[in-house]
Amino acid sequence: MEDFYLQIRHVHIASVLASGGLFLLRGLGVNVFGAGWPMWAPVRYLSYTVDTVLLTAALMLMTIVHQYPFVHHWLTVKVVLLVVYVVLGSFALKRAKTRRARLGFYLAALLVFAFILSVARAHDPLGVFVTGRVW
Ligand code: HEM
Repeated sequence: MEDFYLQIRHVHIASVLASGGLFLLRGLGVNVFGAGWPMWAPVRYLSYTVDTVLLTAALMLMTIVHQYPFVHHWLTVKVVLLVVYVVLGSFALKRAKTRRARLGFYLAALLVFAFILSVARAHDPLGVFVTGRVW
């Protein structure tokens, strides 16, 4: 599997960008345009598929680079914030009662996503607060 490190890393990064991009569009659809398509079944299944690829590649990278959540804290932060991002995202797209609340959850989810990106790029739990850069 080590031989495919670069390819797997590319798959991980591509699915990260696809996942974030899809969430950005779905959130805009729901929160700005009041559209119905973001919750259509094919769109939801596309999102689950992208996230499954993202996590599968993440697990493979973990075993290749021998770095693990709860041992290496930049990965601990990623895992914990991924859960936070998923919860915020579900309130942003569906669970929050008012449009204003959905918008708040949407913006919070995007901020968390950007922070996870900065943690990943920096390999440091403080991410942007250390490097000053998200990417
Ligand atoms: C809990 C799930 C995740 C795990 C276990 C995980 C694990 C990893 C690992 C082991 C690497 C390889 C680091 C290296 O090559 O040295 C990596 C790279 C990366 N991950 Fe994740 N990841 C996860 C989720 C995410 C998420 C949600 C994002 C973005 C929001 C993300 C963004 C990135 C990026 C941008 C890189 C490349 C960093 C670089 O340039 O070295 N990851 N991830």
